[in-house]
This record gives sequence, structure tokens and C-alpha cells, in this order.
Amino acid sequence: MVNDFISLVDFSGDELLGLLDFADELRAKQHAGEPHPLLFGKTVAMIFEKPSLRTRVTFETGIFQLGGQSIFLETRLGQRETVPDMAKNLERWVHGIVARTFSHEHVLELAEHASIPVINALTDLSHPCQILADVQALRAHKGADLGSLKVAFVGDGNNVFNSWANFAARVPLNLTLVCPEGFEADGGIVAEAQASARGTIEITHDIAAGVRDADAVYTDVWASMGQEEEEAQRRQAFHPYQVNASLMAHAKADAVFMHCLPAHRGDEVTNDVIDAPQSIVFDQAENRLHAQKAVLATLLK
Ligand code: CP
Ligand code: NVA
Repeated sequence: MVNDFISLVDFSGDELLGLLDFADELRAKQHAGEPHPLLFGKTVAMIFEKPSLRTRVTFETGIFQLGGQSIFLETRLGQRETVPDMAKNLERWVHGIVARTFSHEHVLELAEHASIPVINALTDLSHPCQILADVQALRAHKGADLGSLKVAFVGDGNNVFNSWANFAARVPLNLTLVCPEGFEADGGIVAEAQASARGTIEITHDIAAGVRDADAVYTDVWASMGQEEEEAQRRQAFHPYQVNASLMAHAKADAVFMHCLPAHRGDEVTNDVIDAPQSIVFDQAENRLHAQKAVLATLLK
């Protein structure tokens, strides 16, 4: 297994399913109150350039539950010193680096210059921790036969979708991006996923066709962190793609609703959908804790 957790395509399908099984095991232990100090005596530096609720709290809490210590660093990479210099300092003191950055290149650069594991906690390009937690929730609600499931991702072909495509490149799954023209996701990631996927990976602008028979309907904000200036223009483009009751009606009757959160209620999703019993958004959020603990305990052991 590779040393860093930067992209889901860096792992085999079996490795990803193994991490998910481990995350389930850690969830059971946590719920049972069973100690699991797998990172005893280890320290993790957490570099965040962007705001966070879920990622920060679940990493810090998870590291504590594993018996380790986290140090939160709110900073912009490459400004006070070079990224390689930062990497070469941190590797002398800590056992791992968690990084949330604007530039994906900065996470790659940290990994290149630090001998310790680097974990991608979201970049402009991808968000692998999110998808591991999402699939853990999807399996809990829809069973482990992911190859029989269709996930319709409605909205922006953004960092979260890119990581779904990375996952679908390695584990059989039917993934459809339903988006307005011009928001089709990273071409290289989609092409690579389509070339290696054992399930299907499709992109459509047709809402009814894209959502038809979906087992899960997923959405995310229309303007991601760093795209605030495009918000008004994006709202216009994405408005027809709002996940509301009439859009959900195209999916299977028992389809779950998924969102990485934070949600902009009334924009990409209506309250009746996100608050419905079929919404599993808080299971996804809880699983950030368990899935990231599995990644940390695997890479830092
Ligand atoms: N889903 C997610 O990554 O949430 P935060 O931005 O709050 O960490
Ligand atoms: N696409 C969103 C995800 C937030 C967790 C963003 O990058 O802001």
C-alpha cells in the first residue's frame, strides 16, 4: 500500500474495501466503548488553509481516540517558507501530516518532500476522506454489493465528484454525474476512471435520465470554497439541478439522499429532502471519524 492518502486511485479496489472493513470495525469498537489506542504516542500535524467543521473535528477527535496527539496549524502553504522546507521540518517531529489546501500540487509537494504519511483533507481537486466515509454509509444502508448500485451525483463536477470517480475507477459501482453544461468534472480523472472502471461512469445534462433508478442521489454546494465570487453566476446555472422532491421522484422509491455537508439549504437541496428519513447525511458525517481513523491507523502504524 502507498505511504500517503492523496488520491483513491493510488489504492487497489481490495485495499479500499479493506479500509472500509477496518472503518466498520473501528465504528463498532467506538460504539462499544472499547479502547483502541493504535496511535499511542504519535503526533499528527494538521495544516488547514480553508475552513472546516467535520474534517477538523473528526481528525482531532479520531487522533485522540487512537491515543495520539494532533497539532492544528492554520496557515497558507508556501508563504512563510517553502513547502519542501515545511515538510522537512515536520518529518523531524511528527508522524503524519493532514492537509487541507487550495492547490492540490501543495499536498503532492508535501508528500514528495516528507518521509512521513501525508493525508489529503480536501484540495480544489479532490476529497478522498469524504468518499471513504460516504461509501461506508452507503454500504450500511444498501449492502456491500456496490456493483449493483447506481449513485447519481447531481450538481457540480467538483472535488467531491472527482473522488467519487477515483473510487469508481477501483471498485465496481455505477456512477452518473448529472450537471449543467460546463461543469463536467476533471477530464483526466473522468477519462482514467472510465478506462479502468468495472462499473459505469457517465456524465449527462439530462436530469430525468441521469437520476432514473438511482439508489443514491448525492449533491454538494454549487460554489465550493474559493469560488465565492462565482456564486451568483453558478446559482443561475445550477438552479434547474436543485435536489427537490420532483428530482428525487426520478430515483428509486427507496433511494437515499447524500450530501458531504455543509449544505446550502434552499439552493442545491430543499429542506424536505435533506430532512427526510431517507437522508443519510449525518451518517456520512459520523463516518468521517471512523473512516479517517482507519486511514490513520493503517498509514501511521
Ligand atoms: N464535508 C466536509 O469536509 O466538511 P468540512 O468542510 O466542514 O470539513
Ligand atoms: N466542494 C466543497 C466540499 C466541502 C466539504 C468545497 O470544496 O467547498
